[in-house]
Amino acid sequence: MAYDKKTGQEIEQKLPPSIGVVEDPALGCSGPLWVPGGMTIESSDGTPYEVRNKVGLCRRGVSINKPFCNGSHASIKFKDGLV
Ligand code: FES
Repeated sequence: MAYDKKTGQEIEQKLPPSIGVVEDPALGCSGPLWVPGGMTIESSDGTPYEVRNKVGLCRRGVSINKPFCNGSHASIKFKDGLV
């Protein structure tokens, strides 16, 4: 969640829980799984990560910050073949 530094109030709209696939036609590549809505993401051993309003989960395995996307899919021009 993003906060106004002066007031401390939330400035980011809370998003409803959902899941989607990100495609970036401008870069000609496929991106992460988009997971808004403050869903709990757990590691393989069951440890929960910090709950956030939105996260991108790597679906190519190239991120150095797995399970989260770090944008590396763009540098390798990842294409999932769905588009
Ligand atoms: S999907 Fe973005 S780095 Fe893997």
